[in-house]
Amino acid sequence: MTVQIAPSILSADFAALGAAIAAAERGGADLIHVDVMDGHFVPNITIGPPVVKSIKRVATVPLDVHLMIEEPDRYIDDFASAGASMISVHVEVLPHLHRTVHAIKALGVRAGVVLNPSTPIVMLEEIAGDVDYVLVMSVNPGFGGQTFIPRSVSKVRAVRDLLDRAGNRSAPVEIDGGIDIQNVARVVAAGASIIVAGSAVFHSADAERATRELKAAATAAASLPAR
Ligand code: DX5
Ligand code: ZN
Repeated sequence: MTVQIAPSILSADFAALGAAIAAAERGGADLIHVDVMDGHFVPNITIGPPVVKSIKRVATVPLDVHLMIEEPDRYIDDFASAGASMISVHVEVLPHLHRTVHAIKALGVRAGVVLNPSTPIVMLEEIAGDVDYVLVMSVNPGFGGQTFIPRSVSKVRAVRDLLDRAGNRSAPVEIDGGIDIQNVARVVAAGASIIVAGSAVFHSADAERATRELKAAATAAASLPAR
């Protein structure tokens, strides 16, 4: 299993995003995770398509856009045009999730679905064969720097099993929230292969080094046989 590291710029200095992204990329970032929040689905407000477009100009790795917004269908085109390579949407806000997933794919963008910590995996049962990846939230979305919810480890394992049973072995499980050098091996061992990390990277003294160390720990865990 190949593991990808996706530093979340939510915890970076927004006045110096270009430098933050460059440091993460030097450390081996495989993706840049972009958190979009609307003040409705989650309490916080962050950024929209114009900022994604600017980031796209400087990033050399694909942009992984996580939409924590109430009406994602209204904005998918804009984020795709702005340069998103991956767009994930929360199952909690979408009564027509199948339509949304296929609308994202029709734009040539990888489509991910996200589960909040309290959302059961059964919500994915009918869509597991259609998605390009599943994002398991290991904190309640809205803010960086929160504490990892331990139950997320078994949830990652169960989502991995569901995707495998649906014949969607190539679809990775992404994990987001409270990941650091202490717990990354555990989530990788459970089957997570896209690792988001915000404060562990950008609140460290050296984002390049933090990215490199996280990737090394994740890669080492991925090479172990059992999970
Ligand atoms: C939380 C966001 C995360 C956040 C992770 O709502 O979706 O991507 O940036 O930050 P850390 O790694 O600090 O929990
Ligand atoms: Zn996120």
